[in-house]
Amino acid sequence: MEINIGLLGAGVVGSAVASVLLEGKEDLGRKIGGAVRLKKILVRESERQRSFQAPPGVLVTDFREVLNDPDIQIVVELMGGEEPAARYIERLLVAGKHVVTANKEVIAKHGPELSARARSTERQLSFEASVGAGIPIISPLSRDLLANDIRSIRAIVNGTTNYIVTRMAMDHMAFDDALLEAQHLGFAEADPTNDIAGTDAAYKLAILASLAFHTKVVPEDVFREGISSLEAQDFRYSQELGFAIKLLAIAHKENGSLQLRVHPALVPQDHILASIDGAFNAIEVEGDLMGRVLFHGMGAGSESTASAVIGDVIEIARRLNLDIKPLPMEENSRSIAIAPMSELVSRYYFRLNVADRAGVLASIAKVLGDRGISIASVIQKDADLPTQTADLVVTTHPSREDAVQESIRCMGELDVVRKVSNMVRIEDWPSR
Ligand code: HSE
Repeated sequence: MEINIGLLGAGVVGSAVASVLLEGKEDLGRKIGGAVRLKKILVRESERQRSFQAPPGVLVTDFREVLNDPDIQIVVELMGGEEPAARYIERLLVAGKHVVTANKEVIAKHGPELSARARSTERQLSFEASVGAGIPIISPLSRDLLANDIRSIRAIVNGTTNYIVTRMAMDHMAFDDALLEAQHLGFAEADPTNDIAGTDAAYKLAILASLAFHTKVVPEDVFREGISSLEAQDFRYSQELGFAIKLLAIAHKENGSLQLRVHPALVPQDHILASIDGAFNAIEVEGDLMGRVLFHGMGAGSESTASAVIGDVIEIARRLNLDIKPLPMEENSRSIAIAPMSELVSRYYFRLNVADRAGVLASIAKVLGDRGISIASVIQKDADLPTQTADLVVTTHPSREDAVQESIRCMGELDVVRKVSNMVRIEDWPSR
């Protein structure tokens, strides 16, 4: 039986997928156990120059040409963005098509409704490429790791921000220059604000946490802080303290509730996540049976994303050839409470710009001490003689987030403090 495929979108990733489906057909046919044909590609303009050769009649500009084509059994959605992609996926499932998507925003925001639709229509909705591009993580969480009670996920899931922090740390590059490079390399979103502000990572964490903890997680559940407050000094000082700075996406189950957060974090240099550089992603999952396992690889880019998308297509096409129904997708309602960020207990790093004179340390120590925050280390850096100011770098023992936020406000009001320049949480890995 020939399997016909529809593709929505021929941007960077869509073109890579189209190339493989159009040029690698024989090899794919062998893996699938039958022929596959890319029958229609939905594009905005059919006349544009493209990186693949589409046979006549394949490029279409009206979604209904894909939706209403009775030969098309699998549709790959690579348009990106929430709408119209979410609406199209819903309509495709209702029309009896299986759907493969790389769209993290749609799955993070509409995953539960779309999964319910896929269950009711007995169709498959596959989204391996939505997190970590070609790194297998959706499939392991949905299958191989199911025996585990998952305790935590700690992940670097945004290639753009990891590229930026790597270039800032290693090559002392300015933030804007590093971002421009990431855009040129094709990792960044159309609007890179979503990368920089941690929104893209929050979408991905919502998807991973829903699967890992068998509960409904939406992007709004995830606390998020981006990387734009990081400055050259933070990388320098944290290196001296033995840490790298990474934008981490963290889901942690503790005392029956789920902590969900995306923020820059100081990662001990001897932990493997500290050495994940450039556009690479890594996802560490900790379960009760298998302990910690790390999934690592190229987490952004057209070919890596195409790898996961085509893997999903192959899996659905094999089932179609063998006439095997998809396994119904798990039905997730909110089964675990989300812990408020104010209750987080963590170690913290502060960088303060202060007057360089007697009594300054004492007043800062008092603000922290009065709120139960115990200082672990203080280093004075970069004293500036003409202005009589210096940078103070303070790290704390485990403290509560609400007390830390209150201390930042109070320290900022002290005469001797010119500026609380930054606060970064320190991520610790308890020994098992
Ligand atoms: N903008 C995303 C990133 C692309 O930088 O990781 C992959 O989802």
